[in-house]
Amino acid sequence: MAKETLTIIDNRTGKSYEIPITHGTIPAMKLREIKVSEDDFGLMSYDPAYQNTASTISRITYIDGERGILEYRGYPIEELAEHSTFLEVAWLLLNGELPTKEELESFQREVTLHTMVHENMREFIEGFRYDAHPMGILISTIAALSTFYPEAKNVSDPANRRLQIIRLIAKVPTLAAYAYRHRRGLPIVYPDNDLSYAGNFLNMMFKMTELKYKPNPVVERALDVLFILHADHEQNCSTSTMRIVGSSKADPYSALAAAAAALSGPLHGGANEQVIHMLRQIGSKDRIPEFIKKVKAGETKLMGFGHRVYKNYDPRAKVIKRLAYEVFDAVGKNPLIDIAVEVERIALEDDYFIKRKLYPNVDFYSGLIYEAMGIPLDMMTVLFAIGRTPGWLAQWEEMHNDPEQKIARPRQVYLGPARRPFVPIGERKKG
Ligand code: CMC
Repeated sequence: MAKETLTIIDNRTGKSYEIPITHGTIPAMKLREIKVSEDDFGLMSYDPAYQNTASTISRITYIDGERGILEYRGYPIEELAEHSTFLEVAWLLLNGELPTKEELESFQREVTLHTMVHENMREFIEGFRYDAHPMGILISTIAALSTFYPEAKNVSDPANRRLQIIRLIAKVPTLAAYAYRHRRGLPIVYPDNDLSYAGNFLNMMFKMTELKYKPNPVVERALDVLFILHADHEQNCSTSTMRIVGSSKADPYSALAAAAAALSGPLHGGANEQVIHMLRQIGSKDRIPEFIKKVKAGETKLMGFGHRVYKNYDPRAKVIKRLAYEVFDAVGKNPLIDIAVEVERIALEDDYFIKRKLYPNVDFYSGLIYEAMGIPLDMMTVLFAIGRTPGWLAQWEEMHNDPEQKIARPRQVYLGPARRPFVPIGERKKG
C-alpha cells in the first residue's frame, strides 16, 4: 500500500526527509527540521495571503469551490435556506447539530431576552457625526460592549463564553439599527420581543409613529434567508481575523469588532455596496459592453464577481437571485436587476471571465434585494455582519476548544537592510 508520506530531498545537503501527510496536508513545522547546518533556522513555507495554508482543523463549514458547494455542519446551504430559520442555523453552527423544538425555543427566548443594550450606547452613538458610516459605528459600538461586560475577558470559562455569544447574537442587530437611525436623524426604536429575529430588526430600522410595527412577511422571510446565507463561510478574511484576535485571549467583543472591521473592506463584505454603485454607474444595458471592456483592460473590477475559493457559481448567489424576484413581487422591482442579469449573461459568455473562472458571488445580487427592501447602501455591509455574527462566534468557540491552537503568529522573510550603525541626524543624506 502507498505510504501517506512525502519524501523531500534537500539538494543543498543531499539529505532526505520523510514528512507525514494527514488530511491532504503536511505539518509546516516539519519543514523546520530541514536544515543545512545545526544553527540553521530551518525551512519555512512562503504563502502571502495564506492562499495554500490550512490554519486550523474545523468541523463547521465545508466549501467545495470547484463544484460550488457550501454546507454548514454537513447540511447543504440550499436546504437550510429553504427549510430553516436564522436562529436555528445559528444554533447549528454553534452546537454542531440542528436543535430539537425545545432547544430552539429556549435559544430563541434567550436571544430575545438579550436584545436591549445599555442606554449609554445611545449616547455614544449620538457622539458620532450625523453622516458617520454605520459600519464604523457598528465596529466601534461592538468593541465598546466589552466595557459593559468586563467578565467577558474570562475566555477560558465555557459558560461565560456562551453568555457572551448569546449577548452578541442578540445585540448586534440592535446596534446596527441604532447606527441607521442616527444616520437618518430618527429616534431609536427599542427591540420588540414579540417579533422574530429578522422581524424585530426591521422594526428597529423602520418603525415610525405606528404603535406596533408589522413586518411584511415576504421581506421578513427574505431577510432571514439572507442572514442564513451569510452565517458562515469558513476561514475567510474576517473569520480568520476573529480567530487571530481571539487567539490572544482577547474578549469576544474586541475580537468580533476586529472581524467586522475586516469585513468592511470592499474586497470582502463591502462588495455588495460597491455592486450597487457599479450598476448605477453603468446606468443602462447598452453601456455594459463598454464597462466590461474597462474591466478586461484592468481599469476596474467587476464587483460581485470572483472568489478566492469558488471557481464556479457561488451557491449563495443562486439562492439570492431567486429570492430577489420574490421580494420584487412583494415590494416592487429594483430596476437595476435587469442591468445585473445582463452583466452576468455577458460576463459568463466572455473568455476573460471563463478563463479565470469568475462567477457571481454572494454580493452580486444581495444589494439589489436590500435596496428593494428600503435598506440604504451604507447599511448593506452592516447586514452582512449581522448574518455572519454566529459564524464568527462558532469559529471563535471552536478555536477555544482546540488544543492545537496557540496565539497566532505568522513568520516573515526579512529582506530589509542588514545590521548597520545608527547615523546622527546631522550626518544623514536624503534619499
Ligand atoms: N473583476 C475582474 N477581474 C477579476 C475579478 C473581478 N471581480 N476578480 C478577479 N479577477 C481577475 C484578477 O485580475 C486576476 O486576473 P490575472 O490572472 O489576469 O491577474 C484573476 O482574476 C485572479 O484573481 P485574483 O485577484 O488573483 O483572485 P483572488 O482570489 O485574490 O481575489 C476576490 C478574490 C474576491 C478578492 C476578487 O475576485 C475580487 O476582487 N472580486 C471583486 C470583489 C468582490 O466581489 N468581493 C466579494 C467576495 S465574496 C464575499 C466576501 O468574501 O465577502
